[in-house]
Amino acid sequence: MTTLGVNIDHIANVRQARKTIEPDPVQFAFLAELGGADSITVHLREDRRHIQDRDIFLLRKTIKTKLNLEMAATEEMLEIAKKLLPDYITLVPEKREEVTTEGGLNLKSNVKYLKDFVGNLKDSNIEISAFIDPFSDQIKYSKEIGFNFVELHTGKYSELKGYDQYKELQRIIEATHEANDLGLVVNAGHGLNYFNVKKIASINNMNELNIGHSIVARALAVGLEKSVREMKSLITSN
Ligand code: PXP
Repeated sequence: MTTLGVNIDHIANVRQARKTIEPDPVQFAFLAELGGADSITVHLREDRRHIQDRDIFLLRKTIKTKLNLEMAATEEMLEIAKKLLPDYITLVPEKREEVTTEGGLNLKSNVKYLKDFVGNLKDSNIEISAFIDPFSDQIKYSKEIGFNFVELHTGKYSELKGYDQYKELQRIIEATHEANDLGLVVNAGHGLNYFNVKKIASINNMNELNIGHSIVARALAVGLEKSVREMKSLITSN
């Protein structure tokens, strides 16, 4: 059954708007777990615009599900990851000026560097995923580099409408099958919400969906525990 990873970066966004101590993403991770989150995702950005080092080390001690650390493939992040030992890591591309992660990794131009990077993390028994666009060549490079998982970028699917969205959904379905055939576990995420999630959740062998913005936005109206519970029920009622 497809599981739900809840991204709590936006809780930290609100805290950092005032550079104060509340709301605390660590407390909200607890509520997300009560609502049925199967894992907690945080993106430690190079510029520390939302999640802070303090958050990830506290989360490591407090959460009862799994910790998914999203990070860029830099030496600084490698060092932090090896100290933190999250359950898994999702490597994402990162540009300082972007509002959120805009596209998938470009694996082709970094094969050698990423092979060493992924090998280094695997030595610490951390499962490692590549955030990629749902393209055949990116899937093949993910396998070659040694990732265990891929996370397919659903941002384009989320933005499109009608037949164009249908075509993008077919691309994601094909990419899921192709990755599965190569032995990769498939996650997906970005831009998923209460209206568009069901078609992605019902793809055969879809392992986990990582969702942040829509769940935190709905939490403003109904509270985080309930907004997570509602999303979980959409994902698991296929
Ligand atoms: N997956 C990855 C790799 C991401 O970078 C993000 C955004 O932080 C998400 C999933 C969640 O996207 P959204 O906040 O649009 O649900």
